[in-house]
Amino acid sequence: MQTQILVMDFGSQYAHLIARRVRDHGVYSEVVSNSVTVKDIMDAYPDLKGIILSGGPDDVVEKDAPQCDKKIFDMGVPVLGLCYGHHIIGHYLSGKVGLGAGREYGMTKLKVVKQDGILKGFDKTENVWMNHGNSVTALPNGFEIAAKTDDCIAVIQNREKGIYGVQFHPEVTHTKKGKVLLKNFVFDICSCKKDWSMEHFIAYEIERIKEQVGKRRAIIGLSGGVDSSVVAVLASKAIGSRLTAVFVDTGFMRLDEPEFIKKAFSSWDMKLEMIDARERFYGALKGVVDPERKRKIIGELFIKVFDEVAIREKAGILMQGTIYPDRIESGGSKNSSVIKSHHNVGGLPKDMKLELCEPLADLYKDEVRAVAKKVGLSSELAMRHPFPGPGLAIRIIGECTFENVEVVKRANHIVLDELRKAREYDNIWQAFAVLLPVKSVGVQGDARSYKKVVAVRLVNSVDAMSASFSKVPYSLLENISTRITNEIKEVNRVVYDITNKPPGTIEWE
Ligand code: XMP
Repeated sequence: MQTQILVMDFGSQYAHLIARRVRDHGVYSEVVSNSVTVKDIMDAYPDLKGIILSGGPDDVVEKDAPQCDKKIFDMGVPVLGLCYGHHIIGHYLSGKVGLGAGREYGMTKLKVVKQDGILKGFDKTENVWMNHGNSVTALPNGFEIAAKTDDCIAVIQNREKGIYGVQFHPEVTHTKKGKVLLKNFVFDICSCKKDWSMEHFIAYEIERIKEQVGKRRAIIGLSGGVDSSVVAVLASKAIGSRLTAVFVDTGFMRLDEPEFIKKAFSSWDMKLEMIDARERFYGALKGVVDPERKRKIIGELFIKVFDEVAIREKAGILMQGTIYPDRIESGGSKNSSVIKSHHNVGGLPKDMKLELCEPLADLYKDEVRAVAKKVGLSSELAMRHPFPGPGLAIRIIGECTFENVEVVKRANHIVLDELRKAREYDNIWQAFAVLLPVKSVGVQGDARSYKKVVAVRLVNSVDAMSASFSKVPYSLLENISTRITNEIKEVNRVVYDITNKPPGTIEWE
């Protein structure tokens, strides 16, 4: 059994990031709610080596603030409290928590008093990232100060009991020595072994899928993206041909996508259903130009088609490639506030009454890409850019006629092809072409032309919440533009989109 570190979530947007950072050190970690009891923990985590209490937006002394089982401090495993978790330690163990000398937001100078233990490897002063109003203003009994700032007691410790409180955020990259602090806690203080890897994750999830599905059948919607592909492979390894993977060809997919999917999945042990629904989708979108209507029509029809297969296959389980950022965007953590409602239309048949199985729900995208490579998916698939559920339909400004779809599909392919040739594909979050509803005058050969305009969109982003247009070399843009106008006879002009998000979104519709 692997050693485990639990992160108790008090409503921080960073709770999962803390677990992620621990996993980066090769130690298994997962997030639990602040409402779990010591008994729950002992039953479920026999090899528990330590607990980290996350931050959170509340004021610990308020009546309704999130609490936890006080007995965690007597379990005999080390506890590290971060920000709100630090306040929990101060508040529960007879210290004082209040506004203190002042609030601190952003980069703050830390003055280290004890350069060992949890702060081993720290210099006398370090930059740390703060985000707090309250702080611990009086030490709990048996604690000492290990570091402070001009305005607060920043690190407290009771080494004998193995309890540590830290006001700053070691999990964010702005805190340069944050990784060092977590490493000290996990290995020196909790005595964890470096015994977790993606291989363990894969083996563990395959077992879990087997257990959940039992003797039933499961179904998964393959979108051609890395998340659903990884889940399909894990499920194939777990339940083989009792998995039906469904690819719905809406007609608005990337060039040669059905062939790509067949090639990627036909050798895996699963039932692969390719549904050609192009006519239904084109029919449903006839005459529709409003972006929201397009999305709604496509989403509803997709669910209908998918539903028909699920009934036919007598599936009891719906496998989904939901990853952690999808959940946080939809307000996935109980105490955190909703940031934005995720608009995934590709695979959310909520009214299908199928039981959900989401093996990647705690992972970040780059972890999923690492799993993809480990389970043997091609690196082309593992590194694919995100692609929206409604597909090319929302990259045609105007009606999705067959001709328009063909133009944008080929232009899109040229953009991706040139990016790969220039070895820029992996440096960019997303790249695509958009067909505009205008024509412009040009000159081609000796003749005047009056043809369509394509916009090229290349963006860099970390999480798609914000994005900046990519500053790629002009020569690359020139190659893209030349190829599009040479190879697509309906187009005589290409423009580059230089809008960031905000104010623009990544997609045009
Ligand atoms: P926006 O356009 O909102 O997009 O800046 C952010 C990211 O989400 C993708 N996107 C979607 N993905 N279904 C999806 O699965 C959708 O309806 C959808 N709309 C946008 C977009 O491509 C970008 O990566």
